[in-house]
Amino acid sequence: MRRFYLLFVLLAIFACSKPKPQDFHVIPMPDQVTLTDGVFNVKGMAVNFDENMDEASFCAALRFVDALETASGEQCKLADGGMLFVQNPALAPEEYTIDIRPDGVLVQASALNGFVYACETMKQMLPAAIYGDKKVKADWVLPCGSIKDKPRFAYRGMHLDPCRHFWTIEETKRYLDVMTAYKLNRFHWHLTEDQGWRMEVKKYPRLTEIGAWRNGTCIGKDWDSNDGIRYGGYYTQDQMREIVEYAAERGITVIPEIDLPGHMVAALAAYPELGCTGGPYEVWTRWGVAKDILCAGNDQIFTFLEDVLTEMMDIFPSEYIHIGGDECFDGDAEPDRPDPWDVCPKCAARMKQLGIKPGPEAKHYLQNYVTARVQKFLADHGRKIIGWDEILEGDLTPGATVMSWRGVSGGIKAAAKGFDAIMTPTTYLYFDYYQSRERDKEPFGIGGFLPLDKVYGYEPLEGIPAGAEDHILGVQANMWTEYIATKEHLDYMLLPRMCALSEIQWCAPDKKNYDRFLQSLDHTEEILDAMGVNYCLDHTGLIGLDRQPARTPEELEEYLAAK
Ligand code: ACM
Ligand code: ZN
Repeated sequence: MRRFYLLFVLLAIFACSKPKPQDFHVIPMPDQVTLTDGVFNVKGMAVNFDENMDEASFCAALRFVDALETASGEQCKLADGGMLFVQNPALAPEEYTIDIRPDGVLVQASALNGFVYACETMKQMLPAAIYGDKKVKADWVLPCGSIKDKPRFAYRGMHLDPCRHFWTIEETKRYLDVMTAYKLNRFHWHLTEDQGWRMEVKKYPRLTEIGAWRNGTCIGKDWDSNDGIRYGGYYTQDQMREIVEYAAERGITVIPEIDLPGHMVAALAAYPELGCTGGPYEVWTRWGVAKDILCAGNDQIFTFLEDVLTEMMDIFPSEYIHIGGDECFDGDAEPDRPDPWDVCPKCAARMKQLGIKPGPEAKHYLQNYVTARVQKFLADHGRKIIGWDEILEGDLTPGATVMSWRGVSGGIKAAAKGFDAIMTPTTYLYFDYYQSRERDKEPFGIGGFLPLDKVYGYEPLEGIPAGAEDHILGVQANMWTEYIATKEHLDYMLLPRMCALSEIQWCAPDKKNYDRFLQSLDHTEEILDAMGVNYCLDHTGLIGLDRQPARTPEELEEYLAAK
């Protein structure tokens, strides 16, 4: 019996020494991976750093070493002869290489992002416990081989709505941690809404004294109900700076959004003179699109916007500021109540002054005017705008970037017209959609049906005119939180769909493979468990907010075959 056991152990060691490609469970799959024989032992390893390494990259490497020490329970030594981090300017800023041999590891990148991604790849190659904060007995080895990797798209975004439901600074950092693990590099922070204004603005204190709080929230999906519980919160400028810094350390740029001229009721509740009617307005307690928007005929709104944007630029160094622009007009949704811009004398005077002809398109041209003024103000300060695809209606000023959300047509049209675009179509990338057809077994989604395989199958350049592909800067998924109130639910909507998103963003099309991706998800689940992050298990046929045991490989195979 003992001899059999010994033979089994030897076979297991031999099998472990040369991982098969299908055992390589890194998401997003690196561009080039060659595995060879042997392993490198990382527990208590010697580690050293190129003396020219910049401070941010050095800190990223140290965070990796720190995580390893915590999880393996053994200190590393600062010495040659183990893992060496080298800054190599010949590589692109997000590119990295890792060469692993039994006697040493060489990690090379030219800048912070490359080092962050090299470390994340190594973390995913190690036992999942490296993502946790406990010492764990495990096989602390890296398989030998070489990895050369770089992303497909420069813009790899994830959005979060802290307005419909508020997320603390700690919860936001956790969200950034998950983004980091999957090599995302843009955090789109939607800071203003009808249901709550979340950014402290020193010059306009009522935005957070009044605009950050609503008198209750509708219950479940019943828009006519109200739970009567005052709800809200906001981020101080120091807290927002903390998020900017935390993200930057992980190679993530925070793109703040002030949604204008629509989705502004919380601001109007605080400063009613900025609306067409002068109010009074109340921070919205139900979901949907509010009619009341900023008055385009009132010059005060530009003073207000410029003041707010000035404080925003001071906090957020991002080249891009998102200025919203979506859903300003609701058409016929309330036929007995026209859109304010259709009946406001000040807006009518502005249209006349601008020579905008009356008619159904007039409002779009007036919105173009608001967008262009804000765009110019930001350009004068060295910044660029991103706007939801409605900004393309009428006449958009060159230099704007369009976020295509109402399907892919906005992005296709933008690229064809020479505008840069970011693809975030509802059809594939709205993570507030349900993941199962069995809605009664899922926590609330806003609607729709967006399972993992559908996300994974999205190809962002499909339909983009030949020669205009470079206008597609990248891809983002959006997380609107009307129906998402807890962090467990937020995680459930995010994962593992964000892992699928990461392969759309990172992998060349010929490197994507859904079967291989699915095979990696068991390891992903271990990682998320170690991080204390929830996820949806629908891909294994299990639905629900509670953690449930993953299916055995046989059960999974059976389930997938039946699908
Ligand atoms: C949006 O989903 N209203 C951009
Ligand atoms: Zn008006």
